[in-house]
Amino acid sequence: MTRRTRTGTASHIALAILALPLATPLAAQDESGGGEPAQEWTRSDEWQAAAAKASQTVEQMEGAERVTLTRGYRAIPFPGPIPDEAIPGAGYIPGIPRLGIPPLHETDGPLGVTYIAGLRGDFATPFPSSVSQGASFDPALIERMGRIIGSEARAKGFDILLAGGANLTRDPRNGRTFEYFSEDPLLTGKLAGASVRGIQSNRIISTVKHFALNGQETGRRFIDVRIGRDAARESDLLAFEIALEEGEPGAVMCAYNKVNGENACASEWLLTDVLRETWGYPGFVMSDWGAVPSLQAAIAGLDQQSAASLDKEVYFEDQLLARANADPRWDAQLDAMNERILTAVYRFGLDQDPAEPSGAIDYQANAEASKDVATAGMVLLRNEGGILPLAEAPRRILVVGGYADAGVLSGAGSSQAHGEGGAAIIRPYGDIGPYSRVLTQQYHRSSPLKALRERYPEARIDFRDGRYVSDAVALAGLADVVIVFATQWMSEGFDLPDLSLPDGQDALIAAVAKANPRTIVVLETGGPIAMPWLDESAAVLQAWYPGIRGGEAIAEVISGDAYPGGRLPLTFPRSTQDLPRPEVPGALELGLDFTGSEPSPGYELVADYDVEGAEIGYRWLARKQADALFPFGFGLGYTKFAFEGFTLERDRASVRVSNAGERPGAAVPQLYLLSRNGQPMLRLVGFAKAELPAGEARRLDFEIDKRLLADNRDGIWTMPTGEYEIGLGTDAETIVARETIRLEAKSWRNGG
Ligand code: BGC
Repeated sequence: MTRRTRTGTASHIALAILALPLATPLAAQDESGGGEPAQEWTRSDEWQAAAAKASQTVEQMEGAERVTLTRGYRAIPFPGPIPDEAIPGAGYIPGIPRLGIPPLHETDGPLGVTYIAGLRGDFATPFPSSVSQGASFDPALIERMGRIIGSEARAKGFDILLAGGANLTRDPRNGRTFEYFSEDPLLTGKLAGASVRGIQSNRIISTVKHFALNGQETGRRFIDVRIGRDAARESDLLAFEIALEEGEPGAVMCAYNKVNGENACASEWLLTDVLRETWGYPGFVMSDWGAVPSLQAAIAGLDQQSAASLDKEVYFEDQLLARANADPRWDAQLDAMNERILTAVYRFGLDQDPAEPSGAIDYQANAEASKDVATAGMVLLRNEGGILPLAEAPRRILVVGGYADAGVLSGAGSSQAHGEGGAAIIRPYGDIGPYSRVLTQQYHRSSPLKALRERYPEARIDFRDGRYVSDAVALAGLADVVIVFATQWMSEGFDLPDLSLPDGQDALIAAVAKANPRTIVVLETGGPIAMPWLDESAAVLQAWYPGIRGGEAIAEVISGDAYPGGRLPLTFPRSTQDLPRPEVPGALELGLDFTGSEPSPGYELVADYDVEGAEIGYRWLARKQADALFPFGFGLGYTKFAFEGFTLERDRASVRVSNAGERPGAAVPQLYLLSRNGQPMLRLVGFAKAELPAGEARRLDFEIDKRLLADNRDGIWTMPTGEYEIGLGTDAETIVARETIRLEAKSWRNGG
């Protein structure tokens, strides 16, 4: 029975707007022929059918049913109880059996189904950190990973995976750098989208998060990020725009921070103007946990208050219903919210085939896949005299530090996953109240020392934990090779003050390398570090947080059974002085504050992102004419590549890559826009990856994303007529070939 007659809900109106041609000024300039404001995928039959079905269901909703889907519950059973039907995880939304709407079970996160301190009594397959995935430059691999993570989520009964971290790493000290793919919008968008595509192939929903500009953890719940709208659309928002096109996520999670004075979860500009009206996004927006400032967020475009008890008030239940009953505008908005949530539910068939705990998981196979991602993301930064790979077994090896006897480091916070048995080592942070239990340094059970001993059974391999420098130095002098494991722990909830290795590790490495010049440094860090000892070391292998088979992956790369396949997805600056903000805003006043609350009422914290605007990372250094310690896109391998026959025609480029060395390896040629009408710029406009055995060659084709050639003005991409100089690079500072093309002026609204 139809609840009432409607003249059209907000989303009907939005759909109607999507069907209209664009306003005349743009249509007149638009040479791309279309003029449709929405992203193309949003008009597919699947999404349209889901939206139509959602609209019919919403007609049937009565009374409290209308706010059942808009209110989320916490699903972590501490400190308080959780709803009986919830599976311990990140969140839970009850279903409406009368209307055939299933409950929704949510879990983090991007690196594997999360462990939540073992409260569910199970485990999962932790993959390497997102920045390590970013270093793979390999969307197909990341899609494969997404398929596996999504399959584990489904087999554990979860319908929604809180994955797809698509924020740009504006600051390498951001405590969640390890959870994000890169500093570049194209690379981030492609990879975040690929992981979402893989996850959702299991017929569950993935988010992309945290929309938008959640660039630091310090003061994340109240910081106000200031940035011009055009610059935002050309950078952080572009990453989300591409991720949406590539992944078609059912949900978007809005962020904690404010953007230009408005909470991201209550920003009409972000949630309605950009997401719905410009991109035509048909799915729903859920809040981050405890990120909703008021009921008004509903009118701005937020559809679901996640884990509502974490906010000051539960807004999206009785309060919302009362407003809807009293005010036709709110009434229509509530219908639109339900429609958007149900559109995603139906699009992925959650009502027909909801996830059920089945336990059908091949952990062995999945761990092997995790190892593949780890090696694909490892970046060889230095290799003096070709010391790596250590193909012939040294007689005596000293392994130092990093708890390498026990495991490999992982990043902390909501993304913390674990394999069987949980962490091998848990190093407490200190007394930080309820967070003490979860925000700890945790090591996966994958010992590099053990893996090295298996690879080199004939060698004598000693281990020292590195606590005493004199002891490590004395043994280093006796070894043929020293391998130092250095760690930099990161966690959601706080940022790093600088780029040093903590706990005196820089001094340890310097002393050991002085005692033995054949010192190889393996980095297990969340992001860039400074490396004051670099010139003394023989080799540096960036292994990031390498996941559940990280120890084995490191041993395989060191021995040459695998090659380091990665390139840096973010710049390693020479110093924090080279960053747009030499100090993390608020760091001195707020320190390592996990509570996230304002230190005093009315306390204001601002991050001025207009300093760099869209010129993040390598682009910022190019603008300042400063060079990096290691540039974006950089990485050595165990072979060398030759590039020939670089051609460029309109938005297509091509190059022949050959492996001119003696070992297999991965080539990652990158295309950069170098100048436009003589004005220098530096933007990644395309990339490719080719795994090539020694002596083999392949032609690689690139499609240039036009948005990277354009500027954005009020949501319209515009390319001026003129000369576009495009370079083929092996990193952002090394261009090996260049071509110039002449392109005509063009403007359009959506798509590449
Ligand atoms: C994080 C999100 C996460 C959520 C649920 C928040 O603290 O910012 O990334 O998905 O918690 O655990």
